[in-house]
Amino acid sequence: MKNKPIIIGIESSCDDTGVSIIQDRNVLSNIIIHQEIHKKYGGVVPELASRLHDINMTKAVQDAIFYAKIKPHQIDAVSFTLGPGLIGSLLVGASFAKSFSMGLGIPLLAVNHIQAHILSHFIENSNLNNSYPEFPFLGLVISGGHTQIIKVNDVFQMEILGSTLDDSVGESLDKIARILGFYYPGGPMIEFFSKNGNDKKFIFSKPVVNGLDFSFSGFKSDVSQFIKKKLKKNTLFIKQNLSDICASVQKITAEILLEKVQKAILETGIYKIALAGGVSANYEIRRKFISFAKKNTKCEIFIPKKIYTTDNGAMIAITGLFKYKRNLFDSIHTVPYSKFKKF
Ligand code: KG4
Ligand code: ZN
Repeated sequence: MKNKPIIIGIESSCDDTGVSIIQDRNVLSNIIIHQEIHKKYGGVVPELASRLHDINMTKAVQDAIFYAKIKPHQIDAVSFTLGPGLIGSLLVGASFAKSFSMGLGIPLLAVNHIQAHILSHFIENSNLNNSYPEFPFLGLVISGGHTQIIKVNDVFQMEILGSTLDDSVGESLDKIARILGFYYPGGPMIEFFSKNGNDKKFIFSKPVVNGLDFSFSGFKSDVSQFIKKKLKKNTLFIKQNLSDICASVQKITAEILLEKVQKAILETGIYKIALAGGVSANYEIRRKFISFAKKNTKCEIFIPKKIYTTDNGAMIAITGLFKYKRNLFDSIHTVPYSKFKKF
């Protein structure tokens, strides 16, 4: 086994085709091909996503090898997302990875997508802290597919402390954004339009959920009903209040997340928090967590660089690297799964 292996990571669980090549923890290349087609549908259309992964995959792999300045035979192992995600999309990445592994005669590493979001913090220079979180820490995975607080005891020893009972936080932002007239993905649009908004103008109720679980569907319905009611009286309501609505939605979302994490800190006595997933790119969420850590000096917040928040091949490669170093190789008969399984 090589000391500093070269690993290719293939991510295709949703709508982004991500391929990255790493050598040990250093990223040599990181290619992401976005699928713009979903914009007009207000969300990811699974059938279209799989077809586009199929079209984009070879280009992403060729580019990743080119920009890494290596030859295919130098790659020591191939890592890919096994699940959870859209099954048709996962199958494209899995088939490609299996063929690649067979063609080059190199080991296959099948990776859990949520674990990979958390382990992206172990890529060299991947977070704003410029350091790796020490175990144990709490991972807050906030994305379009997931909203979870996870106790990370070690690389592959993760325990889910809380999950959403319905919509994920990203899903709720995307649905609210759609009502506001934005394209998918709506989260970044909400962030963009909230910049000059008054975040105290509209007060939306926060969901009451026991323990460390979340619920975002009630919040989303509350916001959408409020907007529909206002539109009945004034058809220009959204146009006239867009920034304030966005800022208010963003503020409450950030508060819901921070309040649960505060609760998790109290329950576990763990003060190190690593944010992960697409929604952790959000400026207001980052600001709230950073300001919380400033006031609570025991607390340390790990913030990923934006490129490592949304789906990417590098997080799949680093997770593969940890498996490689533990000899946790997978068979080419390994089958992708769409729903979350136990870690
Ligand atoms: O992690 P990700 O790329 O894919 C999943 O695994 O789901 O996350 C995508 C989600 C989308 O819901 C998108 O709206 C949200 O992340 N997102 C954001 C921002 N950037 C992406 N939400 C709020 N603010 C952002 N800046
Ligand atoms: Zn993801």
